[in-house]
Amino acid sequence: MAELTPMMKQYLEMKDRNPDSILFFRLGDFYEMFFDDAKLVSKELDLTLTTRDRNKPPEERTPMCGVPYHSCESYIARLIAKGYKVAICEQTEDPATAKGLVDRDIIRIISPGTVISASMLEEGKNNFLSAVYADESGVGLCLCDISTGEVFATSFPAGPEAQDHLENELGRFHPTEAVLSQGAWTLAGLTDFLKDRLDCMCQHWEEEGFALDHAREMVNKQFTAGLETLPAGDTAAVQATGGLLRYLYDTQKTDLGHIAAFSYYTTGQFMELDLTARQTLELTETLRGKEKKGSLLWVMDKTRTPMGHRLIRGWMERPLLSPVQIARRQQAVGDLVEDIITREELTLTLREVTDLERLIGRVVYGTAGGRDLTALATGLGKLPRIRELLSPCSSALLQSLAEQLDDLPELRELLQRALVDEPPFSVREGKFIREGYSEEVDRLRNVMDHGADMLADLEARTKEQTGIKNMKVGYNKVFGYYIEVAKSQTNLVPEGWVRKQTTVNSERYISQELKDLEHTILSAQDKVVALEYQLFCELKDTVCRHVTQVQKSAATVAQVDVLNSFATVAAAGNYCMPQVDNSSVLNIVEGRHPVVEKMLKDSLFVPNDTHMDDGDDLCAIITGPNMAGKSTYMRQVALITLMAQMGSFVPAKSAHIGVVDRVFTRIGASDDLSAGQSTFMVEMTEVAQLLKNATRRSLLILDEIGRGTSTYDGMAIARSVLEYCADKRRLGCKTLFATHYHELTVLEGEIPGVKNYNIAAKKRKDQVIFLRKIVRGGADQSYGIEVAQLAGVPDRVIKRAREILKELEAGGVERPVVSVREDSGQVSLGDLGGETVLKKLRMTDVNILSPIEALNLLNELKQDLN
Ligand SMILES: Nc1ncnc2c1ncn2[C@@H]1O[C@H](COP(=O)(O)OP(=O)(O)OP(=O)(O)O)[C@@H](O)[C@H]1O
Ligand SMILES: [Mg+2]
Repeated sequence: MAELTPMMKQYLEMKDRNPDSILFFRLGDFYEMFFDDAKLVSKELDLTLTTRDRNKPPEERTPMCGVPYHSCESYIARLIAKGYKVAICEQTEDPATAKGLVDRDIIRIISPGTVISASMLEEGKNNFLSAVYADESGVGLCLCDISTGEVFATSFPAGPEAQDHLENELGRFHPTEAVLSQGAWTLAGLTDFLKDRLDCMCQHWEEEGFALDHAREMVNKQFTAGLETLPAGDTAAVQATGGLLRYLYDTQKTDLGHIAAFSYYTTGQFMELDLTARQTLELTETLRGKEKKGSLLWVMDKTRTPMGHRLIRGWMERPLLSPVQIARRQQAVGDLVEDIITREELTLTLREVTDLERLIGRVVYGTAGGRDLTALATGLGKLPRIRELLSPCSSALLQSLAEQLDDLPELRELLQRALVDEPPFSVREGKFIREGYSEEVDRLRNVMDHGADMLADLEARTKEQTGIKNMKVGYNKVFGYYIEVAKSQTNLVPEGWVRKQTTVNSERYISQELKDLEHTILSAQDKVVALEYQLFCELKDTVCRHVTQVQKSAATVAQVDVLNSFATVAAAGNYCMPQVDNSSVLNIVEGRHPVVEKMLKDSLFVPNDTHMDDGDDLCAIITGPNMAGKSTYMRQVALITLMAQMGSFVPAKSAHIGVVDRVFTRIGASDDLSAGQSTFMVEMTEVAQLLKNATRRSLLILDEIGRGTSTYDGMAIARSVLEYCADKRRLGCKTLFATHYHELTVLEGEIPGVKNYNIAAKKRKDQVIFLRKIVRGGADQSYGIEVAQLAGVPDRVIKRAREILKELEAGGVERPVVSVREDSGQVSLGDLGGETVLKKLRMTDVNILSPIEALNLLNELKQDLN
């Protein structure tokens, strides 16, 4: 390779230090990429691949591709979305004053878990970075959203279930990036789970970051609140947190002062849901379309602030277990349900609260501009009104939230006094400090304003003195101010003027007087820009000192917003306040499916009751025709339970819910589920996990377990799973079990606690009418063929299906092998109703038939067939 330029050497050195990131190398107004990075980025982003050295032979040219500095964000966002990391290399000294090669350094590495700019983040969603540490004593997990400053940590003692718990927690937070210690990296299946199921970027991170001493020091230094919640002996959580902090400092190279509050939790505080249950219950997105519309969140999220949007997801993903805490939320929701005026006023006010959490994050991070500060002030400005609205409410939670709302009046007043209403985008060009805030700014601006007057003055005076009528004072970047004189009058130009430029019709000059004036004006301009920037930095520092209060207020607003959203949905949907306690009862009167009832367009949703307990009503086997509503009914029970434990009201006339520790939902394998995952093997793995992890207090929703294999195997598995769940000496937990194996209904009576239910349907002629009502007893028929007909399966096929069914029913399930009719003209006997023919043939002894008798018989048989 040819000799490298010093700059290329500098580039390669940086690239060497960050081989796994795409290096954005700042060159003037562009970020440039070279070599393989250039090829990759030009392909991924559809940019033109160029070269710096066109005069060299093609094989020696360096591939290059660039993006403009001012619009780099959208390019970076697209690369991050495609799963790359981007290292930003900036010029760290002013090129104008630099001697020789400009110093450059990597100022940040951006990865999916560390994006901070608003354009790369989804407003209503947290963006978590996670760190996992594992050793023989246990597994530690830490999650951090650097855009909001939230940090959560927990751990799981070593044991066969540790990894299940870990994966459930990861499934709940859905991090976009994970840094793993050596031990975590080698946990079987963990990286696959992260990559394949959560679409999360995985990195093996330096072990020293996770070392206990180092980690403890980092943790103690970083957090100013919440450390008292960390149990002394929990080293794994500390190590995970330390590793995460180390990663952040190494890649972000900036102040992370907004990450100050530490939140330790144990999984025992929340209802545990694994990823499969989350997905099949369609909590935040639908199973098939992955859309919000059609999910529980879509129905329940009427929040108005970005903080509220994020928190409601959080509450949905971790329903509570403590009836006391649940009741606290319920009372708050109750207050707001009853008071329509407060509710609506709150909704209107909340709508105007800005994203305080992320704004303060950007301020600390150093990426905020003037607009962010005014937005912060505006947001804080709405808090007094919220406090005022909440103060008459009686519930303890709303009362304490009202007290916690700190609108920081002094800070707000300072920002409002200091900044104009609509500051420009950049803080480097001035014009954002409000008049009256700084005497010096005002004075300099005065000079600038007067500058215009003075220039006009000078122009008028000069005209008079010289008698040049066709002249004016102008400005350009190269010469600064000049006097432009029309060519026809250049003979009148006085001695001392210096000619600077000739244009078509005029000459341009400068005079000493003009030069002096220029200096006064331009230096005022430079000075005011610098001063405004300095004032901005001071304001920023002042704001930074209030990080904790702002974050606290933001968190409070988020809670108010979610509670108000619960109330809004409850009032509009005619929900009731469930009674939640530690009993083992699950009693729902006229319950509805919150989402399906919203999706139905031209029919009304039929409410259904549910009663389950740990006695005679432990397990319900639900049979009924296809399309009857079995799946809907079972999910409705799970969702109502979940909503109740979130502290929300529920779609029912009344409900009594004994707290459930975990909800499992399993759907029999079929290929209508997400992307080829749903093989029988996956189904069985999930069932295995459920049987291992469920407890007496869990709620199981089993929807056609075993249908993914042959009838007998499937039925056998379904039956033994059900027996296991129902048996109080084994699992003995509340189970809803939908099946098309009507044979399983014999279990009522055989196993205590099992009851049969079916969802009623009536048959009129060849048509089914769905009643959607759940009733006691097993169903007798599946009406599968009628449903197929309803779905528009061609008549010929339907007719043939009826024939096969008849045949099967005649032969019983002992003879499931059915004759095949082929279209090749070969007609099978059985197919044509040839039972009599067969019978005659069987009874005939060929040995005693004469030829003529044989011929007659053949004729007879033929007639039978016709
Ligand atoms: N209670 C109800 N009131 C009104 N419509 C309902 C009710 N329950 C279900 N439905 C409607 O019936 C449709 C089918 O329901 P669902 O999928 O629960 O049937 P299923 O019994 O599980 O059928 P399959 O056996 O084929 O799985 C739903 O999409 C919904 O539109
Ligand atoms: Mg179903």
